[in-house]
Amino acid sequence: QTADSLFIINNFAEKFFTNTLFNTDEGRDIGLSYFKERGFREATIEKFRLGYAPEARTAFTDEALKNQFNKELLLKTGLIVERNGSLQDNYRGRVIFPIHNQSGKVLGFGARILKANDKAPKYINTPENEIYVKSKILYGFYFARQAMDKADECLLVEGYTDVVSLHQAGIENVVASGGTSLTLDQLRLIKKITNNLTIIYDGDSAGVKAALRGLDLALEEGLNVKLVLIPDNEDPDSYVNKVGASAFIDFVQKNKKDFILFQLELALKDIGNDPVKKSELVNKIAESISRINKAEDFTKQQDYIKQSADILHIDEAGLHALVNKYIR
Ligand code: UTP
Ligand code: MN
Ligand code: MN
Ligand code: MN
Ligand code: MN
Repeated sequence: QTADSLFIINNFAEKFFTNTLFNTDEGRDIGLSYFKERGFREATIEKFRLGYAPEARTAFTDEALKNQFNKELLLKTGLIVERNGSLQDNYRGRVIFPIHNQSGKVLGFGARILKANDKAPKYINTPENEIYVKSKILYGFYFARQAMDKADECLLVEGYTDVVSLHQAGIENVVASGGTSLTLDQLRLIKKITNNLTIIYDGDSAGVKAALRGLDLALEEGLNVKLVLIPDNEDPDSYVNKVGASAFIDFVQKNKKDFILFQLELALKDIGNDPVKKSELVNKIAESISRINKAEDFTKQQDYIKQSADILHIDEAGLHALVNKYIR
């Protein structure tokens, strides 16, 4: 009941923001120019139903109240906030990325400030409510689903703009986690379509850490996880705009690393010659490998044991025995 009403309000808001973007002077001069400067084409903007929220304090609020929407529900959507006893728009002078569910209905919004600064957050997102449950949402899933199925692979990126730019470049099997670590619900959503997950994150340490946190969960769910790090302070959006679609695809193919082995190489670099830490690492990797504990993944497990033993310069049979110790 509440959920239905929230969908109706969000649908109304999505139309308000797209209409403002294309059919008002402020929308065209500020919002549309911003998107175009970023290289987004009009067809792409329309496909993702991107929009613009005007500067005026109550532009959306006025429209929503005129349409008799309930105040409590409007507050729940996060589109409107109460300040000193009066209602006003939460997103002002921002470009809008609507977030859709599996059937294309609007769950909520990400609203980006035009010029990043340290006073205001870069993105304001919908607060948790009956329909916007962040841990269950993958941005772009609705638009990626068919391509994911066809390619039998899901590309996972961090942000809204990464999804939009890759789509525009013809790479459509891509969804975003919103910069946080993957949850079980998100992994299960992916697994309904494909078992092959390729994580494409920024090379900065926050990106890598966010990626690593999802690993054990993904392995337990039986996903084949690969990792690609985008170099030099770029992200997939900026990188594909810099090098073009085919060079981007080449880069991903050449730099795809198996997740367990990636984690191992990274950890080994930190450890140096410390024997205690190395033994801890061997145990950790044995445990990770033991999680791939399904009959159909037997050869995969053997492969991991062999390659990890190589990387660690330890005896393969010894590592095998340790892995078996963790399986039970
Ligand atoms: P990034 O900081 O990498 O932003 O955060 P971005 O996607 O590259 O956006 P542009 O290119 O600067 O416009 C990655 C994702 O983390 C979430 C958003 O989902 C964003 O797309 N995020 C980031 C927020 O929710 N709030 C923030 O203030 C920043
Ligand atoms: Mn980032
Ligand atoms: Mn980053
Ligand atoms: Mn970016
Ligand atoms: Mn980014």
